[in-house]
Amino acid sequence: MIKEINTLLEELQPDTLKEKAKQLEDMLETEKLEALKLIEELSNIEESKEIQNKYFGKKGFVTKIMKYMGKMSNEDKPLLGKIIHDFKVEIENNLKNKVGHLESLAINEKLLAEKIDITLPGKGGKIGHKHPLTLVEEEIKEIFRRIGFTVAEGYEIEEDYFNFERLNIPKEHPAREMQDTFYLSEDIVLRTHTSPVQARIMDKMHPQLPVKIVAPGKVFRRDDDSTHSPMFHQIEGLLVDKNITFSDLKGILLYLVQAIFGKDRKIRLRPSYFPFTEPSAEVDVSCGNCNQEGCRMCSYTGWLEILGSGMVHPRVLEMAGYDPEEVTGFAFGLGIERIAMLKYGIDDIRLLYENDQRFLEQF
Ligand code: DAH
Repeated sequence: MIKEINTLLEELQPDTLKEKAKQLEDMLETEKLEALKLIEELSNIEESKEIQNKYFGKKGFVTKIMKYMGKMSNEDKPLLGKIIHDFKVEIENNLKNKVGHLESLAINEKLLAEKIDITLPGKGGKIGHKHPLTLVEEEIKEIFRRIGFTVAEGYEIEEDYFNFERLNIPKEHPAREMQDTFYLSEDIVLRTHTSPVQARIMDKMHPQLPVKIVAPGKVFRRDDDSTHSPMFHQIEGLLVDKNITFSDLKGILLYLVQAIFGKDRKIRLRPSYFPFTEPSAEVDVSCGNCNQEGCRMCSYTGWLEILGSGMVHPRVLEMAGYDPEEVTGFAFGLGIERIAMLKYGIDDIRLLYENDQRFLEQF
């Protein structure tokens, strides 16, 4: 149709437009419908550029027919202007809308292609939990809190005086051989046990009664194998008051053992020696692994050794200022690793320090 329209316009005289106006309008209407159909069928932006060029480009149809304006008489000019305007407005608008639509389709397609699935499960940080040694320490502290003990703390770097002398272990005493000590200087040591807290707490409390504490913490000895570590943990217990007897000690130890291991467990006290207690006893718990039938765990004895204890030696009381004729007391010391190993069936102490997650996850 473009050709015909051009021919018609070509043949137009400056003031004959009125006669041909209807014909021109019809031809342009036909061309317009053609253009609108093409626009409707556009499927991408590239194609839309062709149409843009065809009608509105430098050599486009609308640009061309506008040139005939110059040929028109002043009277006919506005008429041709209106006819051309009516022709191009709808094409322009439809093309603009279509391009807008195609652009948003393209954007959506791109977004869809780049979509991130936020519903996929993430890597997730694992939440840890307390170390088995902490669990056992906290459990034992709680067991003693229930019966009125408070928790005390001492020093990991300790004076020889508190670690030994105040526990009735004078220099050159052969009992020092029982504990292979790390010396920091002649009279400063890494404490070999939590027992020095006994002396420190009595110094602090004197002359008040009762002294009723448990004291957990790290201790150090030159020992290193599958059941010994150069650093390990103990809990010390001390009860000093009037009328404390050996049966009080026995009762509390039974209470402790049954609270940790279960009501069906028994205890056995064997005579022993510690310089700071008299009498002294080594305490065993009945083996829960074999119900005392005898197994590898209890070396076929039916009993597992768990702690040392005794009645506080009169000299230890005396050194703290208490009169051993008036007050008595008992003390005990247990290894937290040892309890954890028995409670959870751990056969190598080193597992407790390696921090292997496969191990730790089990508690
Ligand atoms: N301190 C001792 C040790 O480490 C354990 C011990 C034994 C503590 C008897 C005590 C006790 O309080 O009465 O081998």
